[in-house]
Amino acid sequence: MSETTTGRQVPGYRRDPPGSQPPYLFPDYRSTRLRAPSRPLVLLPHTLTEVTGPLLGEDRLGELDHDLTRQHQGEPHGQRIVVSGRVLDGDGRPVPNALVEVWQANAAGRYAHEVDQHPAPLDPNFSGVGRCLTGADGGYRFVTVRPGAYPWRNHDNAWRPAHIHFSLFGRAFTQRLVTQMYFPGDPLFPLDPIFNSVPDEAARQRMIARFDPDATVPEWALGYRFDIVLRGRDATPLDEEDDR
Ligand SMILES: [Fe+2]
Repeated sequence: MSETTTGRQVPGYRRDPPGSQPPYLFPDYRSTRLRAPSRPLVLLPHTLTEVTGPLLGEDRLGELDHDLTRQHQGEPHGQRIVVSGRVLDGDGRPVPNALVEVWQANAAGRYAHEVDQHPAPLDPNFSGVGRCLTGADGGYRFVTVRPGAYPWRNHDNAWRPAHIHFSLFGRAFTQRLVTQMYFPGDPLFPLDPIFNSVPDEAARQRMIARFDPDATVPEWALGYRFDIVLRGRDATPLDEEDDR
């Protein structure tokens, strides 16, 4: 048991090793200077409603929600890819029925969002959002196109490495985790403050998908594998903000 700032006793849980998660304040990632908490966090107890409230069930998901290349009249531009993996808990057990959501820029590095006004073309056949539920083995699968790198004005000549944002919901909407998936071999890694806000090298590697010949579909799409571990020694580093 450990004591919080409110004096409540809470059960202990498997903590992530030091350096495997990004700090709230990472000055090179400029917006953390304003949003990082300046006072100790206060634990708010969950009420019954938050834990037992309705979830987005399987019947709410559309047939093509997992396929970002088939949500419009035509196909989007770019390299078609399959991104799949498993969601695992800290003991390596699969997490079934987790809602996995993704959002990303198009192949030219532009989000279909009014805030993104950088001069790269929008793609009328690509919204860049998808979702699915994990299966009994914790598995998920998306079909999409490889996102482009994009500039983000954090510092002079700042470009984000290509990435896909991931959000996971557990058994309640209060159980949400957010992270980013990167692609192997990206030359922008050493220059990216968000990627490098995770101190531990091995933990940074866990944010990088691996090219997966077995997930590659001949004559059709390259495959990438990205397993997400929720907690513990092998935990996937989390992204405290989801705006970049
Ligand atoms: Fe992004």
